[in-house]
Amino acid sequence: MPRLRREGDGASPVSTQTLHGCANVASVSATKRIAVIPGDGIGKEVIPQAVRVIEAAGADLALTYFDWGADRYLADKVTVPPDGFASLARDFDAILVGAFGDPRVPSNIHAREILLGMRCQMDLYANVRPVRLLNASLCPLKGIEPRDLDFVVIRENTEGVYGDLGGVFKQGTPDEIAIQEDVNTRKGVARIISYAFDYCASNKKVDGSPRRRVLMCDKSNAMTHAGSLWQRVFKEVAAEYSNPKIETQHMYVDALCMQMVRDPRGFDVIVTNNMFGDILTDLAAGLQGGLGMAASANLHPGRTSERCRGMFEPVHGSAPAIAGKDIANPFGAILTAAMMLAHLGMLAEAQKIEAAVLEAVRQKKTTADIGGTLGTREAGEWVAERVRLSNSPRL
Ligand code: NAD
Ligand code: IPM
Ligand code: MN
Repeated sequence: MPRLRREGDGASPVSTQTLHGCANVASVSATKRIAVIPGDGIGKEVIPQAVRVIEAAGADLALTYFDWGADRYLADKVTVPPDGFASLARDFDAILVGAFGDPRVPSNIHAREILLGMRCQMDLYANVRPVRLLNASLCPLKGIEPRDLDFVVIRENTEGVYGDLGGVFKQGTPDEIAIQEDVNTRKGVARIISYAFDYCASNKKVDGSPRRRVLMCDKSNAMTHAGSLWQRVFKEVAAEYSNPKIETQHMYVDALCMQMVRDPRGFDVIVTNNMFGDILTDLAAGLQGGLGMAASANLHPGRTSERCRGMFEPVHGSAPAIAGKDIANPFGAILTAAMMLAHLGMLAEAQKIEAAVLEAVRQKKTTADIGGTLGTREAGEWVAERVRLSNSPRL
C-alpha cells in the first residue's frame, strides 16, 4: 500500500494551512510533512519524477503542493502569500523545490522573492552542493573516474551580493552609477566556515574514506575588505579544529576555476561566498555530466527550534528552452529528493534511490543530455521501478 499521501495539486493554489486526515496518532508522528513547490519550467516536469521515486521507495511522507511561481504571479501578483515562510517553517519537515524563472517575468521578481526569500528569511545559511561523478562517461575531462570526483561546495546562502542592497543614481544619463553592495558579516562568515569544518569532520566520502581538507575560496587580492574578513575568520575557525586535524587550503576563485577544469582530483570540502558558490557549482555540475545531475540542500545546521529541516532543490534552473518537451533530466531532482530523505533520517530509502540512479546511468536509461534516449517521465519511471525492485526481498 502506498505510504505517501498528497494534498492539493501543483496547478492550483493550495492553502498552506490544509491538514491531512491521519489514520491514527502513531502515523501522525512518524509521517514527515513535505511542502512541494515545483515552480516554473522544467521544475514542473522533474519534481513529479522525484515524487514518483520517493513514493516507490516507500518513504512515509505527506505532501502538500504549493503553486508559487510565475503562473501564480502573473495571475494574481502574489509571489509568497502572507504567512508563507512562517507556515513552511512551522508546519513542514522539509521543502522540495523545482526551479523558478520564466521569460514572461523578465524582472525575475517572483524567483527572487520565493527562492532567495526562502533562503534568507528562513535563514537557511548553508547551501550544500555535492559534486559526485556517477560514471566516468559523464565527465568531459579525460581519465577522471568516479573515485576522483567526490567533493562538496558549501556556499554561504544569505549574504554577499544577494541582499540586493545598493541603488542606481542618475539613471539613463551618461553619468549613471549602479552600486551593488557585497555584505559580509562576521557572524555570517564564521558560521558558514564552521559548518564547512563540521561537515568535513563528520561526513565521509562515498567510498567510505574520511574527508580531510577544507579549502576556502575568495578573491581577497581584489576584494580586500570582505576578503580580509574571510581570511581572518578562516584561520580562527581552523585553529579550533586541531583534533582531529583538518587540513586547510586557500585559493582565489579564478585559480580555483582553472584547477577544477584542469584536474579536480583532490578537492574535498570547498567553502565560499554566495556568488562564487553559485558560479563554481554550475562549473562543477559540468564535471558531473551537466546541470541535470546536480543536487543541493539549503540548511540551517543544528537548528531545532523550527520543525523544518531544510529546503532541497536541484542546482539547475527552469531551463525555459527545453521546458514542456519531456526532455529535461530528472536525476538532479531525484538525487535532491534522496538528500532530503537522508536529512529526515530515511537513510535506507535515500540509499535505494541513489543506487537506482547509479544503475540507470550505468545502463544508459537516461535522458539525452547524458547519452540516453528516454524522456523525462520514462527516466523517472525507470528509476522508480528499479527502486521498487530493490524493495522486494531477494529470493
Ligand atoms: P538553467 O539551469 O535553467 O539552464 C542552463 C542550461 O542547462 C540550459 O542549456 C538548460 O537547457 C540546461 N539544463 C538545465 N537543467 C537541465 C536538466 N535538468 N536537463 C537537461 N538540461 C538542463 O539556467 P539558465 O538558463 O541560466 O536560467 C534559466 C532560468 O532559471 C532563469 O530565469 C534563471 O534565473 C533561473 N534559475 C533558477 C534556479 C533555481 O530556481 N534554483 C537556478 C538557476 C537558474
Ligand atoms: C541557484 C540559482 C540562483 C542563485 C538564482 C536563480 C538566483 O542560480 O540556485 O544556483 O544564484 O542562487
Ligand atoms: Mn546557480
